[in-house]
Amino acid sequence: MNNQDSFCILPFIHLQLRNGGVFAPCCHAADPLEDEEGNLLELGKVNAQDVFNSPQMREIRSSMIKGERPKACRLCFDNEDTGLESYRKSSNKKWIDGEGIDSKDVDELINHCYSNNFELEYRPKYIHLNLSNLCNLKCRMCWAGNSSSIEYDLVHNRWAPVNSRWTSSASYNSNLSEKKDYFSNNFDSIINLLGNDLNDLREIYFTGGEPLIMPSVLDCLRFLIDNDVAKNIRITMNTNATTIKPSVLDILKQFRFLKLNLSLDGTGAVYEYIRYPAKWKQVEANIKHLKQEFDLFQSVEISAAPILQIYNVFNIAKLYEFCQSIGISCNPQFLREPTHIAVTILPEAIRNEAARTLEKMSYLPKISSYLRQASSTQTVELVKKFMLFTNDLDKARGQNFRAIYEDMVRSLEENGFPWLNETLYA
Ligand SMILES: C[S@@+](CC[C@H](N)C(=O)[O-])C[C@H]1O[C@@H](n2cnc3c(N)ncnc32)[C@H](O)[C@@H]1O
Ligand code: SF4
Repeated sequence: MNNQDSFCILPFIHLQLRNGGVFAPCCHAADPLEDEEGNLLELGKVNAQDVFNSPQMREIRSSMIKGERPKACRLCFDNEDTGLESYRKSSNKKWIDGEGIDSKDVDELINHCYSNNFELEYRPKYIHLNLSNLCNLKCRMCWAGNSSSIEYDLVHNRWAPVNSRWTSSASYNSNLSEKKDYFSNNFDSIINLLGNDLNDLREIYFTGGEPLIMPSVLDCLRFLIDNDVAKNIRITMNTNATTIKPSVLDILKQFRFLKLNLSLDGTGAVYEYIRYPAKWKQVEANIKHLKQEFDLFQSVEISAAPILQIYNVFNIAKLYEFCQSIGISCNPQFLREPTHIAVTILPEAIRNEAARTLEKMSYLPKISSYLRQASSTQTVELVKKFMLFTNDLDKARGQNFRAIYEDMVRSLEENGFPWLNETLYA
């Protein structure tokens, strides 16, 4: 393959269904797919094959094959340019010569695309389903498009409404709560998306909302079991692990492979501060139970997927130790939005102090070098926004940043940012 610097396997095998019933090339793509007139392609209105071969999908394939960087994929290329791992690279690694696509078939696929106007006849093998934003938590870094609890929170929703993240277009103009459960309302369309021949389906990635409390996710899993294809399919799921029902575990065990990305953003009080109103003791017990349940299964991978942000930058070492103590890996991701809680707005002295904690223990070198090297995004306005946002959510939830993060408040003050008492929306 000649286009290693631009090619991604995903537009050739994958589609994402986003909350709101719109489609995207993948979860890292900036905007949802539109037709030539700029209308969103919506579930139930457009056939899955037409979405997969929509003009934008064909354009993305064409650019990648020609060695160009498609605009839709800028997040991956930005990450690569700053030395971070990209979804593009990890997907190529996972699928090509891994999850079932030979590298020689990729060359054939490229030739086929050239002679076929970049259309593909088959259905995506890998589908990402966000079936609704139903969620029992309102994590500080999340937004209403992904959490109904944030959507209904009068303060948090002002900071992070449904159309605030990832997309500049009108993809979430419609009221999400009116479209709560796509699966029951659009059963045929979802099945159409999964493909007529379910035997071709290799992986479904569920996020949400919280997949383990969404009836539509369980309906979908049961449908695949009833059609006797679960044994071919890998399920990847991001879950907050607050709600683990034995009947759901029995369902999950029937699939070819299960990858659970547990969203743990810290331990103890830090965990509870970020992932309100979850309780650490309960989640800790759930995770230990999950580990025990799946210990005898070879085909399961459980890992923690914390999102690095100001609120956990001094707790990530403890989380890493917790993960080690129960035998799961810890794969932190970097938060880009909301920009006012990104670690890159912190004064250099605080970032370096956090890096030192990790370096002393030789933990997570990727995180410590990011803390030391990532370009600063600090502005006086962003630091003020961080304090207002924090105070607003504290007041609405009865939490107290100053009590949990005493040292950080002191360091901020020493570096010229005394804590503000103001709120904005609370
Ligand atoms: C939106 S959640 C949905 C699934 C599930 N409710 C959970 O928490 O895992 C999917 C993933 O997005 C992460 N996430 C939330 N807010 C984020 C942000 N601002 N930036 C990056 N990832 C974020 C979560 O931590 C989680 O790992
Ligand atoms: S549990 Fe997941 S979807 Fe719900 S608020 Fe937290 S990150 Fe968002």
